[in-house]
Amino acid sequence: MSKQAIGVVGAGTMGQGIAQVALTAGREVRLYDVAEAPLARAQAEIEKGLTKLVDKGKLTAEAGDAALARLAPTTSLEALADCEVILEAAPERPDLKESLFRDLSRLSPEAILASNTSSLSLTRLAAVSERPERVVGMHFFNPVPVLGLVEVIRAEQTADATVAKIEALAEELGKTAVAIADSPGFAVNRLLVPMINEAAFLLQEGAASAEDIDRAMQLGAAHPMGPLALADLIGLDVCLAIMEVLQDGFGDPKYRPCPLLKRLVAAGHLGRKSGRGFHVYA
Ligand code: CAA
Repeated sequence: MSKQAIGVVGAGTMGQGIAQVALTAGREVRLYDVAEAPLARAQAEIEKGLTKLVDKGKLTAEAGDAALARLAPTTSLEALADCEVILEAAPERPDLKESLFRDLSRLSPEAILASNTSSLSLTRLAAVSERPERVVGMHFFNPVPVLGLVEVIRAEQTADATVAKIEALAEELGKTAVAIADSPGFAVNRLLVPMINEAAFLLQEGAASAEDIDRAMQLGAAHPMGPLALADLIGLDVCLAIMEVLQDGFGDPKYRPCPLLKRLVAAGHLGRKSGRGFHVYA
């Protein structure tokens, strides 16, 4: 088993960011997705991210080239078989994640399987794998190269050694780990996404414009970006899925998703990735 290689499943925004930080930490990365097109896009984005670091003098040009050379995009899940840790950052569909965890646990019996899920139960994912004690949550924040936190989520079945290994990996990747129980929304999303949902209610009620709601929280609460712009960055579909998980998980009506949020998602206005969410993007 190669101690060096990290597997990343899913070449979307989060997978790209996770791959980039693993590459700059000196790891080989096998980046899996189902087709060549998302892998090519991910490679281009990672190259852009590395160039930013080189331009800012945070990475030498040689180190940037070497990091990119350690990236191996693949459409074969088998290519991840000898990875020490496999970080799953696939779309937030329970059926998809469960099938990946079943397959990965058969494919690579020794690897730790860490999910970047923002909303699903790790205990449930661990239960479908063949070795639940090696399943754990490793939740990064977008943009991954910039934000310093990793939530380490312990499923009911997770072994202490698995948690320790993932905490050490987070540190190696330059992140600070906080340990969280497997509770709906974990810590950050349970606090952050209801705030976004409440901002959507403010907008729906016509209490203020989207621009003013965002400006209010930037200037009045020193947030780096307003809640509606942040929702556009995260993805409105992801925000809605998190609200639904909070509502299902706690059965508390305070977590009811805002109808405007639901309507925008139904219309395909998912935020930056679709060109329009609460705001419109060029
Ligand atoms: N690779 C390397 N560096 C990068 C980068 C990348 N891909 N993207 C940005 N950077 C660097 C920039 O070069 C810049 O560096 P310097 O400070 O050295 O100049 C720095 O990061 C900031 O970038 P920008 O200047 O482009 O942008 P900004 O200052 O306007 O900040 C932001 C943008 C980082 C997104 C900031 O607004 C922010 O932190 N917003 C809040 C984001 C947030 O809350 N995210 C959490 C979402 S919740 C989540 O992710 C979990 C979930 O499950 C849904």
